[in-house]
Amino acid sequence: MSTELPESYGPPPEGQPSPPSRRTFIATTTAVGGAVVAGGGLAAGAFPFTAEEADAVEAAPSGRVSLTVNGERHTAEIDNRTSLLDLLREQFGLPGTKKGCNAGACGACTVLVDGRRVNSCLTLAVRLDGAEVTSIEGLADGDELHPLQRAFVEQDAFQCGFCTPGQIMSGVGCIEEGHTGSHEEIREWMSGNICRCGCYVKIVRAVEQTARGK
Ligand code: FES
Ligand code: FES
Repeated sequence: MSTELPESYGPPPEGQPSPPSRRTFIATTTAVGGAVVAGGGLAAGAFPFTAEEADAVEAAPSGRVSLTVNGERHTAEIDNRTSLLDLLREQFGLPGTKKGCNAGACGACTVLVDGRRVNSCLTLAVRLDGAEVTSIEGLADGDELHPLQRAFVEQDAFQCGFCTPGQIMSGVGCIEEGHTGSHEEIREWMSGNICRCGCYVKIVRAVEQTARGK
């Protein structure tokens, strides 16, 4: 089997222009997507922008967002492509929310937005102007743990702990939604949160314990 890299990984042959970077390509196709649909398609191989225009597209579009996180008002100037997860972790100094898959598949990044659980890795921060966000850092009341945090400790519902913030935030949502009628129901409504350590039985018990104590 050949181990050579395909040509697209190397420099272009002499005399030929450099292809657009991945970012330029995505930004450009995103920007012209409507035109492609409306106009019935672009000519094959045509790259619609000059180098200057492509540079302008590559410059990150930015916007201002104001939102309340754990009861505290924040305003930030952000790249419009910033996820809520990155905003929390990198700009607001709240690393409790974990980045697992960064693709909506593991639930490690779960937070509450206006009381509803969301995968913050898939949520564009710029769309949350005026929203109320609760992350794991906002659950405890000073030294007083949230009942579900206490239940996780009492039930020993974690091993490495990486998934735990997302599990707890999702559990809070699950309880608020009332999806706690049985182990099966809890399991079903917590199924978006993956635990590599396999603590599912104890996680379900912790959610159930908290729901019963409500
Ligand atoms: S990090 Fe968001 S779902 Fe995995
Ligand atoms: S406790 Fe390790 S991934 Fe859940």
